Amino acid sequence: MKLENRIKHELIRLLLQNRSHFLSGEEMSKQIGCSRMAIWKHIEELRKAGYEIEAKPRSGYRLQVNPDRVSAAEVSAYLTTKRLGQHITYLDTTTSTQTVAHEWAKEGAPEGAIVIADNQTAGRGRLGRNWFSPKSAGIWFSLILRPQIDLQAATQLTLLMSVAVRQAIQKATGLSPHIKWPNDLLINEKKICGILTELRGEQDQIHYVVVGMGMNVNTPYTMFPSELQNQASSLAIETGHQMDRAPLIATLLAEIEALYDEYLTDGFLPIKLKWEAGAGMLGERITARTAKNTVSGIATGLSSEGALLIQCDEKTIPIYSAEIEV
Ligand code: BTN
Repeated sequence: MKLENRIKHELIRLLLQNRSHFLSGEEMSKQIGCSRMAIWKHIEELRKAGYEIEAKPRSGYRLQVNPDRVSAAEVSAYLTTKRLGQHITYLDTTTSTQTVAHEWAKEGAPEGAIVIADNQTAGRGRLGRNWFSPKSAGIWFSLILRPQIDLQAATQLTLLMSVAVRQAIQKATGLSPHIKWPNDLLINEKKICGILTELRGEQDQIHYVVVGMGMNVNTPYTMFPSELQNQASSLAIETGHQMDRAPLIATLLAEIEALYDEYLTDGFLPIKLKWEAGAGMLGERITARTAKNTVSGIATGLSSEGALLIQCDEKTIPIYSAEIEV
């Protein structure tokens, strides 16, 4: 990172982490390893960028209001994770964070690296759909993982992600989203978050997995295209207030890391139980449209591998990939 960027990055982190008290210019210059003049210059630049920073003679600086930004400096100020999010690529705008993450993974990005964008011009959803990702309205990121698991077990990671997102939303808002198989998060029957898992591997070995997360955070109802207004919602709509996205990304990563560690040591069973507890459709009649046929019956849970089980007449049918109608 260039020196100027590093000073800015560290300054934002210090201000966010010490908002309850004043920090002197001298203290900050010592911690960052730069001159007090450089601190003063960067404080002025941050003010121009929308940070409201109070200055008090003989006390120093204190952050009062910060803009809702999701660059590496803001996100890393809130991180509590050991591995996830330690390497962040932030882009104001990009086509799709998935595309950037695939490139980075091929070049050797470490496990836990993430690509975050404020805006995507060609966001991708499941089944070749577009993903609506307007500027500054949501969380659009792709996480690179390198799990030592069988290729077939990768669907379990997708299910793990939906449990992690549900837990993160519960912690951050108090709301309890339902999981729609495999990994949509719904509040009041409307989609808040979608997850796209893509991987590269051969034979039985996974090279890397890219988990894409799209969460509607501050999107107002009127911003959604009309065809989405009946089926999508945002945390701001459901809670009645706007939320800062950087601490929410940190909460998401903390929940993902805890579950991922549990999964790597204890296997899929604990995740399966949590997924089933959060699923909104178990015990209900559903229709699953797979590439080959359509199955209707009662959703009863997950198999030990992660397939959705549908009770149909006397038979239990496992579904691995389908569109679901409840
Ligand atoms: C779905 O269809 O429900 C999955 C949507 C996944 C969207 C996210 S946004 C960040 C990442 N980049 C993309 O282009 N897609 C994923």
